[in-house]
Amino acid sequence: MGVSFLDFYKGKRVLVTGDTGFKGSWLCLWLRELGAEVAGFALPPGREDDHYNLLKLGDMIRHVSGDIRDLDSLEAAFGDFKPEILFHLAAQSIVRVSYDSPKETFDTNVGGSVNVLEAVRVTPSLRSVVYVTSDKCYRNNEWLWGYRENDVLGGHDPYSASKAAAELIFSSYMDSFISRRDGLGAASVRAGNVIGGGDWSPARIVPDCIRALREGRPIEIRNPHSTRPWQHVLEPLAGYLLLGARLYEDPKAFSGAWNFGPDDDAVRTVGELAEKIVGRWGAGSLRISPSAHAPHEARLLRLNCDKARSLLKWRPRWDFTTAVNETVDWYKEVSSGVTALAASRARIKDYTEVLND
Ligand SMILES: NC(=O)c1ccc[n+]([C@@H]2O[C@H](COP(=O)([O-])OP(=O)(O)OC[C@H]3O[C@@H](n4cnc5c(N)ncnc54)[C@H](O)[C@@H]3O)[C@@H](O)[C@H]2O)c1
Repeated sequence: MGVSFLDFYKGKRVLVTGDTGFKGSWLCLWLRELGAEVAGFALPPGREDDHYNLLKLGDMIRHVSGDIRDLDSLEAAFGDFKPEILFHLAAQSIVRVSYDSPKETFDTNVGGSVNVLEAVRVTPSLRSVVYVTSDKCYRNNEWLWGYRENDVLGGHDPYSASKAAAELIFSSYMDSFISRRDGLGAASVRAGNVIGGGDWSPARIVPDCIRALREGRPIEIRNPHSTRPWQHVLEPLAGYLLLGARLYEDPKAFSGAWNFGPDDDAVRTVGELAEKIVGRWGAGSLRISPSAHAPHEARLLRLNCDKARSLLKWRPRWDFTTAVNETVDWYKEVSSGVTALAASRARIKDYTEVLND
């Protein structure tokens, strides 16, 4: 991976669904740094201190406030902007929320994704589509080894099932429509648990830790032994950007499913991650509070990324310690008065340097 992906986006018209979210806001900032013309489509940001608001991203991109469950407004946004490249990230993204609101989760992640693919069908300007699902789309067998792109899909909780369903839908649109259109490539992408500055989502471990540390109370951990593939947000985004470029240049060769997970070194328990965060923050403590009524969550999950390594030449650049340090330092800097824009730009700059190693 190198200069070709970094030069590719200059002047390209790129639409990002979910631009007000954690990953979408980082992706839009990176795309602007690369010189792309960017539009976003999503629900309004939910919190004043969302990364999107802190960055003042609304001044940097053409944001359209809308709901992907509404096909007409989605098609209008695609028709107005005429994107060449689409990154679809909009989703109800939290496993715990999916237990409280399963229908909303399926309507958004399944119905909404159908609408996005319908909008793709009627947008002739598109050359490449990167469609984000999740590592949780695989049927979880609690295997020690990593899931491959052709492993069986499945999902116990509504979020995971919605992402597996979104994969099946993608595959059907791919076979029935997208692969028949010359010059259009599309890929579904499955990344691990992403960490980084600017995430304030409920029921996610990093925001939970930072909230507790800022308020000087112990961090409550429900599932300290659950193991996840942790990665800094810039890692999968580098994979998505690389894939967006390769699909544009050679749609047939790069269409399909891709995993973008961390090295084994970063497949760690929730407890290890929380301890590492406390260590970098410099103060704080953990309190293990398992709940007998907590809903089921998979205990062990890792991804096999041989395909991306071999065919895309993508690989993780920041190990577990670096990913945690870059995350905690972002929150510390912003708490001490550095602007989020400066803190996030600095991470993109440092990460870009290691891309060329
Ligand atoms: N964060 C992770 O660890 C992780 C891991 C694997 C996969 N993913 C996937 O990556 C994508 C982005 O995740 P994130 O962490 O940025 O999530 P997020 O919750 O921070 O952001 C979700 C975005 O989707 C938008 N959205 C939700 N419902 C919508 C609707 N009905 N219409 C329009 N927009 C809607 C929100 O407004 C927001 O912009 C999601 O598809 C998520 O499932 C995330």
